[in-house]
Amino acid sequence: MHLTLLECPASRFALPPHLLSDSPATAAPVAAQETSAATALHAPLYDRLANHLPSMEERAQAATFLRTVLDEVAHDADELPEDPQQLTAWMEANIANVHAQYQSYLESRKAGAPRRYFLNRAHALYFLRQVAPTKLVDGSWLYGLCAHGSNARLSDLITTYVEELGDGQADKNHVKLYRTLLARHGLDPVDDLEDPLYRQGLVQLALGWNAEEFLPEVVGFNLGYEQLPLHLLITAYELNELGIDPYYFTLHVTVDNADTGHAKRACVAALEAAPRIDDGGEYWRRVRAGAKLGNTGLSTLDVIHGFDIDSEVITILARKASSGHGAHSDFCKVAGRSVNDWLANADDVPAFLAALEQGGWIKRNQPAQDSRFWRLLQGDRAEMFGVFSPYELQVIHDWIRGPASVDGAPFDAGAALGGTARQMSFRVAQRLQAARRPRADAGSAAVPSSAALDTDLEIFEQRYPTLSATEQQAMLVQAMAPALHWTPVGLLATRMFLNRG
Ligand SMILES: [Fe+2]
Ligand SMILES: [Fe+2]
Repeated sequence: MHLTLLECPASRFALPPHLLSDSPATAAPVAAQETSAATALHAPLYDRLANHLPSMEERAQAATFLRTVLDEVAHDADELPEDPQQLTAWMEANIANVHAQYQSYLESRKAGAPRRYFLNRAHALYFLRQVAPTKLVDGSWLYGLCAHGSNARLSDLITTYVEELGDGQADKNHVKLYRTLLARHGLDPVDDLEDPLYRQGLVQLALGWNAEEFLPEVVGFNLGYEQLPLHLLITAYELNELGIDPYYFTLHVTVDNADTGHAKRACVAALEAAPRIDDGGEYWRRVRAGAKLGNTGLSTLDVIHGFDIDSEVITILARKASSGHGAHSDFCKVAGRSVNDWLANADDVPAFLAALEQGGWIKRNQPAQDSRFWRLLQGDRAEMFGVFSPYELQVIHDWIRGPASVDGAPFDAGAALGGTARQMSFRVAQRLQAARRPRADAGSAAVPSSAALDTDLEIFEQRYPTLSATEQQAMLVQAMAPALHWTPVGLLATRMFLNRG
């Protein structure tokens, strides 16, 4: 599966079906969906919901997927209190508990304990890339409530969504921030991840695109997911220690605070949306089921523990093998075989690496500069300069360096490119980024909307003034969808949504 998350297809803008046609949209037969939901891959549907405005059929598929996951977690325990009136106390107890655990983590570090999560920079960058499918749809579970902006009982949830969108400011929009983080470290495009990594993001998107059917589950998911987790604090601390900007993570520590932040607001919202008419406990039962959805898919710790630098190096070189095969002269020989021959088959990569080690091209557990192989990749005159991304270089470096990459001054692929080479790399990366997603870079709130070159923005600016008030509201909501909210039109629409009368 190749899914390029930073890819921007041509204009995704269209009026909602009910404004374009008077015939109701039809969904696929439920029975057919039920059979496919259990076995289908997550990434294709994720792509439709995250990067496009999905059809009614795709939304129905997402609803079917949600019902399947709800069935799967039905017998799992949840952490919510028995009595909804205890929600605030429950939230405060969680925060006190997390703070206490974090303090003891800090003390252990001060006493000399190693990092708990990340062995080295390569490990941390690997983590940032693996969790991208979830982070790039941050907040999406609340999207469906924007269409009900006049419902005061949902206002805390809608405020939370708009805050996830940074109130329409590009430098505060959570998804845009994560995209910037990925780009800064050469972690994009995110196009080769394992399918289970899309599962949690798909749950969030499925809730967001089906809020009318799953309101209590949306409320419950929000309640569980917006509570402060210990891993957020430790991740931010260790990223910072490794010289990686932790702002995306520290922002969530402050935004989800207990006093006025999303954690508190999630508790208030759950009570506000609760029925006043006796429902026999159905609403609360469904809220609790929704809270369990936050645990589906791979957890932060699963991803962290899934890092194996040996296999990551092999994966990286195997990926390059098809393009590298044929690119070398036949004079390049390792263990009697030409490099072209070694690269003809990606399965030969482990043997190729072993041959490079035996031939003295790679000297493991020594400074990377001591390896001839490394000097081909890195440096002003390196013959293979530019072949590997900063992330890939980091992994190869830390693999060669071995345990010393844990404690030694961490190599920074970006910083260590040094001088001209670094600037060149940065310029190339910038050009590639600009070509790949011009709309994202034009999305600053400081740029007047008409100055942003963006196909969706052009459609929006032409069409919006011609619409009725109801249609205008629908168009704003559409532009705030997961696929668009971080782009120029989405940021503009979010600001207009906030300022509407
Ligand atoms: Fe967020
Ligand atoms: Fe949040």
